[in-house]
Amino acid sequence: MREIRNIVILTGAGVSAESGVPTFRGPDGLWEGHRVEDVATPQVFRRDPELVQSFYDQRRAALARVQPNAAHHALAKLDAEWPHDLLLVTQNVDDLHDRAGSKRLLHMHGELKSAWCLSCDRRTPWDGALSNDPACPACGARGHLRPDIVWFGEMPYDMDRIDRALSRADLFVSIGTSGNVYPAAGFVDLASHAGARTLELNLDPSMTSPRFDESRLGPAGTLVPALVEELLNP
Ligand code: OAD
Repeated sequence: MREIRNIVILTGAGVSAESGVPTFRGPDGLWEGHRVEDVATPQVFRRDPELVQSFYDQRRAALARVQPNAAHHALAKLDAEWPHDLLLVTQNVDDLHDRAGSKRLLHMHGELKSAWCLSCDRRTPWDGALSNDPACPACGARGHLRPDIVWFGEMPYDMDRIDRALSRADLFVSIGTSGNVYPAAGFVDLASHAGARTLELNLDPSMTSPRFDESRLGPAGTLVPALVEELLNP
């Protein structure tokens, strides 16, 4: 690990699993009783806004009952102490990386704790429910706020910044993601082509494991603190 300067880290639901946040594709293939495609598309939202709003209201409220785990804390420590470029890209819509203290952080799939007004296009930090049609704090319009979440068929956020960081990365680390959803599942290839070393940390082999230089199997709460120690004290 001695010649590494620029690091890009991608996290998925597995990094929050030990905090008690359910993953999207568990053993039953369901996310809190739903197929993820049945609640996470703009089409379903147009057809049944109440279902989608109350589903995401429950996910937002559940954040009050979970805490960052050792993996989130270790990544925040790496962010604070790594002297070169580092970018943490999360697919997670929870706020556990933020609460652990990570600063160089992008939420490429949006955030539960943000509301997006379809009337004025502003985004507002949001803690409460959206299913009761609250007014937008920016423009006052009622019934136009939706979860600020990137649904299937929508463009993930900050792709330019992510592409730039991947093209300069010396090390790309993917943690706790199944590799089912693009473009995130393709980051390993972009980093590889740019000459980065690629490392995956996951409880089980993922769809993309064969495309990494190295895969380490185990819980993120153990593997991530060990990797951070390895990087900070080579
Ligand atoms: P998945 O639920 O598809 O995959 C979770 C991954 O975490 C699996 O590969 C598990 O093996 C791994 N895992 C579970 N527990 C773990 C632990 N304790 N330590 C390490 N790994 C563990 O979740 P994602 O890959 O994040 O998008 O899903 C990607 C996207 O699909 C999500 O961002 C979401 C969904 O559609 C949106 O909601 C927009």
